[in-house]
Amino acid sequence: MSWFGCASADGAETEDPEQMSIDQQVRDDDRKHVFHSWSTQALIDPVPVAGGEGSYFWDHDGNRYLDFSSQLVNVNIGYQHPRLVAAIQEQAGKLCTVSPNFAHESRSEAARLIAELAPGDLDVVMFTNGGAEAVEYAVRLARLHTGRPKVLAAYRSYHGGTAGAVTLTGEPRRWASEPGVPGVVHYWGPYLYRSAFHATTREEESERALAHLRDVITLEGPGTVAAVILETVVGTNGILVPPPGYLAGVREICDEFGLVMIADEVMAGFGRCGEWFAIDHWGVTPDLITFAKGVNSGYVPLGGVIISQPIADTFAERVFPGGLTYSGHPLACASAVASIGIFEDEGIVEHARALGTDVIGPALAELADKHPSVGEVRGLGVFWAIELVRDRTTREPLVPYNAAGADAAPMNEFAAACRQRGLWPFIHFNRTHVVPPCTISADEVRQGVAILDEALATADKYCA
Ligand SMILES: Cc1ncc(COP(=O)(O)O)c(C=O)c1O
Repeated sequence: MSWFGCASADGAETEDPEQMSIDQQVRDDDRKHVFHSWSTQALIDPVPVAGGEGSYFWDHDGNRYLDFSSQLVNVNIGYQHPRLVAAIQEQAGKLCTVSPNFAHESRSEAARLIAELAPGDLDVVMFTNGGAEAVEYAVRLARLHTGRPKVLAAYRSYHGGTAGAVTLTGEPRRWASEPGVPGVVHYWGPYLYRSAFHATTREEESERALAHLRDVITLEGPGTVAAVILETVVGTNGILVPPPGYLAGVREICDEFGLVMIADEVMAGFGRCGEWFAIDHWGVTPDLITFAKGVNSGYVPLGGVIISQPIADTFAERVFPGGLTYSGHPLACASAVASIGIFEDEGIVEHARALGTDVIGPALAELADKHPSVGEVRGLGVFWAIELVRDRTTREPLVPYNAAGADAAPMNEFAAACRQRGLWPFIHFNRTHVVPPCTISADEVRQGVAILDEALATADKYCA
């Protein structure tokens, strides 16, 4: 079993003996020597990937998949964008590595470009190797800036796999690492379809979620809380788009109690929601933004924290106690610079926004009309969820929360039906997420949705 389906491609067979031997060698070495994330090692059979281009990747057998998952929702620019590949090659030819103790062209430029894109006075960037480290450093910055110990994080969230980030995480990936780091308190964020507040409208959900957050802060002791961290649009745990007024309300509460507002945009940022940063939709300026994934589509590992000027100033005359050998790695930063340039030149953010309103949203609404197993579709940009249920009235999920083994069979069947038809789906619990590269064409979206339409027949048969 695997949390993200280190998935098998349902037993396709190859005809070319040379390809078969590469495929077999990759599989054999992988099974003997590679320890995979979030997986029961003996139960997985990862597909050996041979290549990719645009919105597709393929295996050594020549099976081609339209990628509705963007790997782990990070290949925002699509596979093998030639300009991005060339930028990495060019930087590799000049200087492959330089420590964070020096200033470097690609790092300086990447930081400036990211700061220019970020809202308000978020003008300074600390680079990391990925999202979890960005979250670790955001929390450290908030604690040192405020001098307070606690951090509030939402249930139904994922913030990363390292000690602090996994403690902040509000779902089962945290459980095995408990007790985690001290000082983390969980609260409920808004999710109208399964409201923790018995709300019936988006406005009610927003109001009640804010009242709850205020209560949690009051009872924890405002003077003990450094920060509230939230995924601007919750990603893996359901594509939960905040209701009207929620983010502005969190901002107000943070201001009232002197807390740092941390927007985790590792998944939602860099075009995914049809804006550079998801939070731009709501015109709210947090104090810290964490980013990774879409900043350079994972062509080279990169993440970071965008820091507001007042928090950066805390460390003007005082040492910041933290660092990483590869903070601001030249290959990673050169790829971020190139990626931002490509996004601008090709209008990728605007394309992502239009796909959401004109193509993906309407196409998924049609699926919802047609299939009894579709409880709700929701999202924006190229960030959508289809929530599958057994009964639309009771909203009983197609599979139980955190289902494994036989309990997860209906979702596994659905995923297999997609893969057999050449679509690679993103599956989490009772949902499939429609999260292709932001560069996908409208036609490719329609092809993928047509496959989802066929595959949903496997889910419909479980409906009351
Ligand atoms: C919102 C969010 N934060 C943090 C992370 C952790 O990022 P990484 O896997 O790069 O450490 C993820 C990864 O999926 C994420 O979705």
